[in-house]
Amino acid sequence: MTLHAENENRVIRISTDETDLIYCTNSNGRLYQAYFGEKLLHEADITALSSDEKGGADSGAGQKGWDIYLPAGSGDYFEPALGITHSDGNRSTVLTFASVDTKSLDGNATETIIRLQDGQYPLEVALHYVAYKKENIIKTWTEIKHQEKKPIHLTEYASSILYLEHPAYYLTEFSGDWAKEMQMSTQPLQPGKKVLETKLGTRAAMFMYPFFELGLGQPAHEHQGEVLLGTIGWTGNYRFTFEVDNMHHLRVISGINPYASRYELPAGETFATPEFIFTRSDEGTGKASRHFHAWARHYQLKDGKGDRMTLLNNWENTGFQFDEQKLSGLMQEAKHLGVDMFLLDDGWFGNKYPRNNDRAGLGDWQVMENKLPHGIPFLVKEAEKAGVKFGIWIEPEMVNPKSELAEKHPDWIIKLPNRETYYYRNQLVLDLSNPEVQDFVFGVVDGLLTDNPGIAYFKWDCNSPITNVYSPYLKDKQEQLYVDYVRGLYKVLDRIQAKYPHIPMMLCSGGGGRCDYEALKYFTEFWASDNTDPVERLYIQWGFSQFFPSKAMCAHVTSWNRRTSVKFRVDVAMMCKLGFDIGLDGLSADERTFCQEAVTTYNRLKPVILDGDLYRLVSPYEGEHTAVMHVDEAQSKALLYTYNIYPRFGEALYPIHFQGLNPNKQYKIEEINLMPGTKSAFQGNGQTYSGDYLMKVGLRLFTTETTSSHLFELTAL
Ligand code: DGJ
Repeated sequence: MTLHAENENRVIRISTDETDLIYCTNSNGRLYQAYFGEKLLHEADITALSSDEKGGADSGAGQKGWDIYLPAGSGDYFEPALGITHSDGNRSTVLTFASVDTKSLDGNATETIIRLQDGQYPLEVALHYVAYKKENIIKTWTEIKHQEKKPIHLTEYASSILYLEHPAYYLTEFSGDWAKEMQMSTQPLQPGKKVLETKLGTRAAMFMYPFFELGLGQPAHEHQGEVLLGTIGWTGNYRFTFEVDNMHHLRVISGINPYASRYELPAGETFATPEFIFTRSDEGTGKASRHFHAWARHYQLKDGKGDRMTLLNNWENTGFQFDEQKLSGLMQEAKHLGVDMFLLDDGWFGNKYPRNNDRAGLGDWQVMENKLPHGIPFLVKEAEKAGVKFGIWIEPEMVNPKSELAEKHPDWIIKLPNRETYYYRNQLVLDLSNPEVQDFVFGVVDGLLTDNPGIAYFKWDCNSPITNVYSPYLKDKQEQLYVDYVRGLYKVLDRIQAKYPHIPMMLCSGGGGRCDYEALKYFTEFWASDNTDPVERLYIQWGFSQFFPSKAMCAHVTSWNRRTSVKFRVDVAMMCKLGFDIGLDGLSADERTFCQEAVTTYNRLKPVILDGDLYRLVSPYEGEHTAVMHVDEAQSKALLYTYNIYPRFGEALYPIHFQGLNPNKQYKIEEINLMPGTKSAFQGNGQTYSGDYLMKVGLRLFTTETTSSHLFELTAL
């Protein structure tokens, strides 16, 4: 390979306000990561960067550095980002620099496209980077295409590889299961590989969530130290590989999980990977999370800057047992509470096989005539009469074998032709790789909205992973099912987005089993967990808040953990997108009044809660108390949430140190969300403190009362 002179020592700089990711070409024409870290101050210093010394095992085969997109068979013995079997059977690829383009997207974001090629094969790899300056987020994805005579096969196709060099690496991962979402744990990374991945297909996040935090030099800490936070925008199987190599360098490979997913790529077609989205911070995870939150609100989340509706849902209250009268009553209750919407959950459809439990009817999206004889138009009208909006639950990717849909279209179902079928929640997954099935799924939403333009909201559920993995549509391309399923889903969501750009939708997956930033381009919010026990929610919401802004996380007040007060349950849900899923008849008059007042307060403080910066002050993982706060952009209004979980007898109660305030402003602090007839026990209630005092000295606001909470509003004078 001969290198054009202008490409020798070529430096490509991808920058945000706080971070530099710099690549340099070597004399061999390949492009290497030369620097990734805190932004360099002096442009001139960049010329001193060299990538020659870096890299893993020196094979003598030409690998001299940290290859920007490490291909298999190119002289590096560690996990590759790209694996190709060329049309002639050759499994090696060597990528050299071809060109780079940059374009400004909106004054804040810049896209850099780096093109690489293989001197021996007509193969082009384009690496895309979009750097968001202010939010300090970089997202990157890769596009692969070729002009070989026959198709090539992709065995690995990561979105990105990043390299780090620190004396120690600590990985924080987020594991879980139904009702146990986003449990955080941290471990040091030793030589060898640690893999985070799932193979669940649809409900892809259920056991391991597609997020990681890396503490560099020390475990990731909330308020200090260098950290890297990453996630993949892919609503399917994903894999993060963390490999500490022979030089104690850490390689982080992120992408679709290539497990059972070898992909055939015909000439001329482009294979685009999902986006890997990451940020780093030199001041701990709190700041890194705020990067994600701000970026999501501004760029990624559907209607990220918009308002969110409070709601009353009926699932925890009625389950499948309801009729028109019951629902009309609940709409009145929604109005009484003061929420914006009534959300009708599962159980409203199916006639031949009525959906009165989870064993039948899924797939038959016609209203159940016995239960709801006047159909959805009646419900929309009843909601209108009550003065609330009407939202509805669907699970359009799934089917019960006991359904008319399964009888009519058995070939639309993912199911092994020659083995006994097993069921997850008595249901199966429709084959979204099939365009006819995509039309059907789109038609569920389109049909409902065409017939009932008054529907104001969808809750889109997904209760089963892909089971019995076999697509009748893909025939001899079974290995492409996991990828093509997700692409089929995006095609459906694109069509919905195009036709109904403003319809808010909740992403739900038997709780929070599906939550990623690609899906959230189409969904305004997600259901974080079926577990609404407020104690458990403190942990779950703490976990999700590492990556998601409060306005994206639905939190409902329910009857889970009745031993806790309604106030405690409401105070926990107030941190996120507030909803209720509880019968008001089970509440005392005071509790009802409290809930109504809380909704009014929530509405008043929405700009701070939904769009303010989140500061996680005290972690529930570190004791029996936790506190977080929201601060608005002008630092003129803040809301502090304090929770006492199960305090020990006589334990020391430390002051809470506020964050994010203006040290030079004076803030009046007032306890809010008090039960009717009670007063704040905080002695400083109503007093004024400087932001400096609140942040340095702090206030003693924790108590020893079990499962109790206190919310404080701060107003700059
Ligand atoms: C699982 C969801 O997480 C619940 O909120 C509820 O919608 C049920 N599915 C309904 O089947």
